[in-house]
Amino acid sequence: MAEPVAIGIIGCGSVSDLYLTGAGRSKLVRVKSIADLRPEAAQAQAEKYGTQAVPIATLLADREIEIVLNLTVPAAHASVSRRIIDAGKHVYSEKPLATDVAAGRGVIEAAAAHRLRVGCAPDTFFGAGHQACRRAIDRGRIGRVVGGAATIMHHGMEHWHPNPGFFFKFGGGPVLDLGVYYITQLVHLLGPVERVSAIGSTPSPTRTITSEPLRGQFIEVEVMTTVNAVLLFAGGANVSLATSWDVWKHARNFCELYGTEGSLLAPDPNFFGGKPMLSEREDEWRDVDTSELPFREPNRVLRSGARVADYRIVGVIDMAMAIRANRTHRASGALALHVLEVMEAIDRSSAEGRHIAIESRCDRPEPLPLGHGEEVLADG
Ligand SMILES: NC(=O)c1ccc[n+]([C@@H]2O[C@H](COP(=O)([O-])OP(=O)(O)OC[C@H]3O[C@@H](n4cnc5c(N)ncnc54)[C@H](O)[C@@H]3O)[C@@H](O)[C@H]2O)c1
Repeated sequence: MAEPVAIGIIGCGSVSDLYLTGAGRSKLVRVKSIADLRPEAAQAQAEKYGTQAVPIATLLADREIEIVLNLTVPAAHASVSRRIIDAGKHVYSEKPLATDVAAGRGVIEAAAAHRLRVGCAPDTFFGAGHQACRRAIDRGRIGRVVGGAATIMHHGMEHWHPNPGFFFKFGGGPVLDLGVYYITQLVHLLGPVERVSAIGSTPSPTRTITSEPLRGQFIEVEVMTTVNAVLLFAGGANVSLATSWDVWKHARNFCELYGTEGSLLAPDPNFFGGKPMLSEREDEWRDVDTSELPFREPNRVLRSGARVADYRIVGVIDMAMAIRANRTHRASGALALHVLEVMEAIDRSSAEGRHIAIESRCDRPEPLPLGHGEEVLADG
């Protein structure tokens, strides 16, 4: 087997655990060095995961490192990605690509000028549950998709994240933070969005942190925390998207799609697994088979005790293999930029009280081949 692709990580906070765990399981990539504005954060993760912490400049100057993961906070994504590109490295960013479309486009254009790649989370659509939905739609099992309803509603982030302030600042909010998984999954299934309308609100102007170590501090909320949007896809589907951090409990499904021949219940786009169900016309709901697809088995236990499939990093592995094979990678900058434009349009639609047309278009990422592990990314 070829040597694993050497990657570096900038940003060693909460989400870096998922990437360092994922990289530890991979034979196709290896983390050579990690760095953070706070050297102590990088040092702690280096000790925990058996890698080396270095200054950011050292990481960027390392000729062995081909891809740098940008796992910093959203407000830093564009500037850190630009720095990575300027250093001659491919970049894979956590979502969102940037906090606004102009900055996101700047990242894509800088990379193109240097003949470098941009990849961006989320990569959850690689998961078996979502790939099974893709196959069902592509095979016409629900006919032409004409509508849908997606829901992501919780009660905030201030009760669990050690540093929850950024979720409520410009660049945060439920659309950019969690809606991004749903919109990416919908574009993966249905293709690009053509038009958006939305109404948002901010029911609580301040939030009180109840997690450690900042318990008792207040957060001034800068973003809408309840947003109802409607997305009209270029293919004709008219899909509602409800996002909120003001809801304790609800009884809606993650994502329902309605076609001319039937309906599909898609699993949670925030994770990789789940059990899709499909009904032809008025028939009973039936499970959609996911057994032949990769990234399916639960491998992570959430704070709630729920077991979920979480293979975050497979988008990076796919990009590494795509560079080797000179093919297109799936969690692409073009997809992320389109999704960012949709999210920005949701914000603008609410602020300006009108529908917003989406200018960018992107191709749907290629479906994954059948198979069971990361080898499917090396093969296809
Ligand atoms: N926490 C999660 O479960 C989770 C899940 C999926 C995606 N994400 C995304 O991952 C990203 C990071 O989230 P997090 O929860 O790990 O945040 P965090 O605050 O825990 O960690 C961010 C880290 O980035 C560092 N950093 C900030 N600016 C930097 C800069 N300019 N240069 C170098 N380092 C810098 C900080 O010091 C910090 O250690 C966000 O975009 C978030 O949306 C988080």
